[in-house]
Amino acid sequence: MTLILRPAAPGDFPGILEIEQEAFSDGPWVAEDFTGDDCTVAVVDGRIVGFLVSRQTFPAAEGARAEREILNLAVRKIYRGRSIAKALLQHELERRAVHFLEVRESNVVARRLYRQMGFEEVGRRPEYYDSPVETAIVMRMK
Ligand SMILES: CC(C)(COP(=O)(O)OP(=O)(O)OC[C@H]1O[C@@H](n2cnc3c(N)ncnc32)[C@H](O)[C@@H]1OP(=O)(O)O)[C@@H](O)C(=O)NCCC(=O)NCCS
Repeated sequence: MTLILRPAAPGDFPGILEIEQEAFSDGPWVAEDFTGDDCTVAVVDGRIVGFLVSRQTFPAAEGARAEREILNLAVRKIYRGRSIAKALLQHELERRAVHFLEVRESNVVARRLYRQMGFEEVGRRPEYYDSPVETAIVMRMK
């Protein structure tokens, strides 16, 4: 399997939305939601199989690293378990910044993946998510 990671192009949005619809219960984002954020896609055999959306939340300043937030990460079901999410995360973490993210409390697969990648749990936000209402776990890269 040859995996290519590259910045998303406008033509990728139908593929991204398909993966979102498959992955999330609380309704997919719409294409415009990605505008202004950094979206990286994972491509196998010319097909979009995963994506990661992030953004800078604070610029680097004297003595302080930039801060970034991972907003969204998903992999097409039939491609899961092949380290595609790990590759997308590693690629994101090459951006020099302190990374944060939120994840549903019940999402044990994602929480395990983030811990494996070096994130630690630093907070909880009760009732942060809708459909279904659920606590968010806030994680930060160590
Ligand atoms: C979470 C998600 C992105 C992981 O994608 P993936 O490409 O399958 O992940 P990887 O193959 O890189 O696996 C990395 C780790 O995830 C965990 N993992 C992956 N699939 C798993 C499964 N079916 N059961 C348990 N753990 C699993 C493992 O810890 C794995 O590491 P290991 O292979 O060393 O054991 C994917 O399951 C997904 O799209 N889920 C729905 C959307 C979502 O929940 N996104 C996160 C929102 S915060």
